[in-house]
Amino acid sequence: MGFLPFRIFAFFTLYISDFLYLVLMRILTILRLTLMAMASYATTLLPPQLHYWNSILPDTTMPKALSQLVQPGLVGKGNLSFFSQDAARNCWCVFVNYKGKSGGPSQVFFFLEKDMHPGNGKKYRLAKNSTRATFLSRKTAESIPFSSSKMPQILHQYSLKPGSVEAIRINETIQECESQGIIGEKKQCATSLESMIDYAAFKLGRNIEAVSTEVEKAAAAVQNYTISPGMKNLSAAYKNKVLVCRKLNYPYAVFYCHAFQSIRAYMVPLRGSDGITVKAVAICHTDTSEWNPKIFQDLKVKPGTIPVCHFLPDGDIAWVLKQKH
Ligand SMILES: *[C@@H]1O[C@H](CO)[C@@H](O)[C@H](O)[C@H]1NC(C)=O
Ligand SMILES: *[C@@H]1O[C@H](CO)[C@@H](O)[C@H](O)[C@H]1NC(C)=O
Ligand SMILES: *[C@@H]1O[C@H](CO)[C@@H](O)[C@H](O)[C@H]1NC(C)=O
Ligand SMILES: *[C@@H]1O[C@H](CO)[C@@H](O)[C@H](O)[C@H]1NC(C)=O
Ligand SMILES: *[C@@H]1O[C@H](CO)[C@@H](O)[C@H](O)[C@H]1NC(C)=O
Repeated sequence: MGFLPFRIFAFFTLYISDFLYLVLMRILTILRLTLMAMASYATTLLPPQLHYWNSILPDTTMPKALSQLVQPGLVGKGNLSFFSQDAARNCWCVFVNYKGKSGGPSQVFFFLEKDMHPGNGKKYRLAKNSTRATFLSRKTAESIPFSSSKMPQILHQYSLKPGSVEAIRINETIQECESQGIIGEKKQCATSLESMIDYAAFKLGRNIEAVSTEVEKAAAAVQNYTISPGMKNLSAAYKNKVLVCRKLNYPYAVFYCHAFQSIRAYMVPLRGSDGITVKAVAICHTDTSEWNPKIFQDLKVKPGTIPVCHFLPDGDIAWVLKQKH
């Protein structure tokens, strides 16, 4: 009997603590819901491209060449002023002079992999005029036709007349995307950042990062550069896994991504004759047997005999396997 008050007290404290517990849980639930709502609000504020990047490539920095394109895109009647340039002159493909492919004079300056030493240098072009077109979200890009059979709809979307300079540029880009790759080339055009990430992950796996050449805007397009110490072999631990993506001339950001069997990538610190310092991505091709011999005259070697390299201009992206830091 003497225990009864204690029992009542125990019951009471239990009841009180249950009650407190319930109140506390309620408060926690409300807090959690609020936090979740805030988080999802923050997520909706994030452009879908960034959201996708973070989900597939966490702990990987997005190079400036890509981050500056992740802005509200030019949808519909966009700003087409970037089409004034001649696409052929803007073409940086190594294969401009590839046999059978026409095109203007190559703007790429080649060098030999064995000459890639600190203190060596020559004339390179690292700055490029690329279009200002930004990425659309994948959802939007996939809702817009991108095919030569849909040219009338595409031109209508941008209020362009068939035969206009802009219409010709759009056609060139679509033709390039629909063309067969050259021997040994695996290619795909990415009409959104999300689809570029997917293609890179499909080709190289998910343990990847994107690198690019970054040039100060004031830099002269072509100038003498000297290699500084600190070169990094981006293919060192793994063999020849590189996907290169080049921006095409189009109302929104479209990249031509291609992979070859035998290429290597390097990050090379350079100093320009005007004093600027640049970290440039060098791509070296170990199989050049199919290349136009003209490229090799200047290098004084025969096609297919020795690895030949070129720097990626700013704006182009190389996807490589993530480096061990
Ligand atoms: C269109 O592009 C030009 C230069 O490329 C730029 O100065 C202008 O601000 C752009 N206009 C819009 C509406 O984006
Ligand atoms: C696009 O270019 C191709 C090849 O140059 C040509 O055959 C085709 O007629 C062009 N299409 C349009 C709509 O201009
Ligand atoms: C970009 O284009 C402008 C105007 O067409 C030209 O003056 C400039 O030299 C070009 N820059 C590069 C890096 O090609
Ligand atoms: C670049 O280097 C070459 C040879 O080393 C030299 O003839 C040329 O004058 C240099 N150009 C500039 C702009 O420094
Ligand atoms: C970079 O790494 C690749 C792959 O291991 C290797 O074949 C190549 O010789 C290396 N390059 C240099 C300059 O050491």
